[in-house]
Amino acid sequence: MAGHSGGIPENIIEDIISRNDIVSVVGQYVRFTKTSGQNQFALCPFHSEDTPSFSVSVSKQIYYCFGCHKGGNVIQFIMEVEKLSFIEALRLLAERAQITLPEPEDDALKKLSVQRDEIRDALLEAARYFYTSLNSDRGRGASEYLVKRKITPQTAKKFGLGYAPDEWEGLYRFLRQKGVRDETLQKCGLFTKSKKGGLIDLFRGRLMFPIFDPMGKIVAFGGRIMTDGTPKYINSPETDVYSKQRVLYGLNFAKTSKEKSLIIVEGYMDVISMHQAGVTNAVASLGTALTDRQLSLASRYAEEIVLFFDSDNAGRNAAIRSLKALMTRLNRPSGMNAKMSVGRVPDGKDPDQYIREHGPEAFRKVVAGALPVLDYLVEAAQAQSIEDGRFDARTFQSLACEYLSWESNAVLRERAAGTVADILKVSVASVLAEAKRAEDNERKSGTLEPLRTIKEQISAVPVEETNRATHQEIVLLCFLCENPEVFQDMPDKPIATDFSAGTMRTIANEMIAMLYKGFGGAAKLLELSEGKELNGRPARDLFSGILMKTKDIRDPQKLSRFVLDYLYRVREQVYTRRKKYLAVQIDGMAEGPDREASVNAFREVNDYLKYLREQIRELSN
Ligand code: UTP
Ligand code: MN
Repeated sequence: MAGHSGGIPENIIEDIISRNDIVSVVGQYVRFTKTSGQNQFALCPFHSEDTPSFSVSVSKQIYYCFGCHKGGNVIQFIMEVEKLSFIEALRLLAERAQITLPEPEDDALKKLSVQRDEIRDALLEAARYFYTSLNSDRGRGASEYLVKRKITPQTAKKFGLGYAPDEWEGLYRFLRQKGVRDETLQKCGLFTKSKKGGLIDLFRGRLMFPIFDPMGKIVAFGGRIMTDGTPKYINSPETDVYSKQRVLYGLNFAKTSKEKSLIIVEGYMDVISMHQAGVTNAVASLGTALTDRQLSLASRYAEEIVLFFDSDNAGRNAAIRSLKALMTRLNRPSGMNAKMSVGRVPDGKDPDQYIREHGPEAFRKVVAGALPVLDYLVEAAQAQSIEDGRFDARTFQSLACEYLSWESNAVLRERAAGTVADILKVSVASVLAEAKRAEDNERKSGTLEPLRTIKEQISAVPVEETNRATHQEIVLLCFLCENPEVFQDMPDKPIATDFSAGTMRTIANEMIAMLYKGFGGAAKLLELSEGKELNGRPARDLFSGILMKTKDIRDPQKLSRFVLDYLYRVREQVYTRRKKYLAVQIDGMAEGPDREASVNAFREVNDYLKYLREQIRELSN
């Protein structure tokens, strides 16, 4: 199958779908307020609305929103709402229904996955240990520190904050006693080797911040010293479950925020303060230069991304470096296509300080005042061009043109060039020319990757498939999947070429194969449509919209006639197209055996068309 099921057998997927009633699964995320026939209605979790247009069909086990036109089966609902891949959603639902998924076949893979689970379990135990310590006598200092930082006990609990006692082996002994294996202790990132070669606690006498993955599982820790000592933070090293570049701290909470933007800040404390103040769409890059992985991750959850960097000089320089790296890659991270802007906190404060001093409303204003990336860079160039309290136009010109050269979008570049031209009181054309020169120079010096030419980009797009399907063939496929027993009994069964070439045919072909194997159901068709586009929309959404509207025909005889009627109508369209094609072909052919073959084909097609039309007439009587 289309590669989404990760090798999970079809009958297990079937089992997972049937043992997770869509109404009860969806009911964990929305409140149903209206019932109409087999459908339950609620406010849509995917777009904001005042009257419920999000519906779930009890009988078909699918959902569809008549407002935003998104739809799918129970697995796809979980994918959307939890932002998971197909296989991740499948796992979640399998767990919910207590179905055991088959282990990955490969032995090495299996070992790794067991090991990763053991590491995660150990990290969870460690978090419990830190948490208990914080809330015990020896954690008093840390609790007082939290009070000083204006973190409430509820917030501390939500973020799982803890305290690592100032001991060499406190955690080590605790985890051993919990039965964690040596190998796991070595690989979990919580210990370092002592001079004598034994393991000692990495985090000692520190306030502890668990780092969660998007699903809320602990993958690492950061630990802050509570004095002015250094290093301020110690972080877990990379492990089998933790890759620094791929994590956004707080995403497990921010992903359920109603905001359509995601705010990326630098530090643990910024995120925690912001969430506490009700700014729940904040995540942190944790002080590293923002990576393209982090940006792509963010763009899975938000249409808009607002970046905050430290507002001192060092922070600004880091921001510029990060932005350059992101903007000048050959394959721009998909996050770059989201609307991206940069926020500036006044007075050199970080978001945590600012929000504590001025409150969430003031901070929201700061967010609203974020500048589009290129405007931010122009502003940064201005700030960098102040020397001894005086603005140096030459410095500004060369910096600004360099920054403009990183933008490959000509429209955006030209717009920002307008700003630069205004400041320098020169023409836009000369600024653009300088930017182009800066770009050429960089390219020559090899720091920029060559851009693909427009032609290369265009030829990478497949043009043959039109990916259009008619309403009738879509309805036909919907009826077929919903009535597998009708399919079994059809005297004349549909075949792949009854359907339009492209995505429609691919999906139909797979669905027909499923029907032969005895699988069916609306949810199955939606599963096969996953990740495919049809008529310019996600195929899933298109099909669920039609499926929601198809009638339940109870009389089996009537149903059979109805489906056959649809098949013949679809086929009639197909054969009419073939007839026309052959007619044009024959027209342009010289006498000879080829032409004769085409003429014969034409006659056959024509005869079959006559037959189809007769059948259609008969069926509609
Ligand atoms: P900051 O120095 O801005 O710290 O570093 P902060 O988050 O504002 O913390 P407070 O408010 O002083 O308590 C930003 C982020 O950079 C990483 C951490 O993830 C931190 O949250 N960092 C900083 C380290 O990993 N190690 C360090 O020594 C310092
Ligand atoms: Mn801070």
